Amino acid sequence: MLINIALLLLIVFLLVLLSMVWPPDSPWAPWWRTNKKIARAMCQMAKVGKVDIVYDLGSGDGTVLIVAAKEFGAIGVGIEIDPLRYFISSMLLRSNRLSDKVRIIRRNFFDVNISEASVVFVYLVPKALNRLLPKFNKELKKGTRIVSYKYPINLPMIKYDNENEIRLYMIS
Ligand SMILES: C[S@@+](CC[C@H](N)C(=O)[O-])C[C@H]1O[C@@H](n2cnc3c(N)ncnc32)[C@H](O)[C@@H]1O
Repeated sequence: MLINIALLLLIVFLLVLLSMVWPPDSPWAPWWRTNKKIARAMCQMAKVGKVDIVYDLGSGDGTVLIVAAKEFGAIGVGIEIDPLRYFISSMLLRSNRLSDKVRIIRRNFFDVNISEASVVFVYLVPKALNRLLPKFNKELKKGTRIVSYKYPINLPMIKYDNENEIRLYMIS
């Protein structure tokens, strides 16, 4: 019994290690994550508030949505394809008592309609951002803010925070 548990833990540990070195252009992008300080800066840049529905496309461990809901009062929706990250984010939401404010959908974000979003967060490689552009233009309402961490999007930029490497765009 103990050996089985140890084996299971070893497999989970190896999977986590593997996900850290996964090629960045695969759906299972590396375990790069946004920390709370950057998440706060993203929320401030997009002026996130109680009236907002914030989507994080590829929501990872859910940190960005936890900050948006807990500190800025927003409703959050995360879309995450990786089962391990989906599981971890669900646990973190539960331990933060945010399960009623933030939901995580375990799917490919290309297959989920995102039209209800008023704010969209992305921390994705340029290849994925380029593929998302037609979806943004088709589904998002006028005035929806998009904040991208690290990588630019091929849309007119409204603001750039050099220190935190975040960029703000708006659908017009
Ligand atoms: C760089 S991480 C960012 C995680 C989180 N947004 C953050 O800022 O901490 C990118 C995430 O996108 C997820 N992802 C990549 N392609 C995806 C897709 N097509 N559908 C859903 N999730 C995807 C990966 O599994 C990974 O968790």
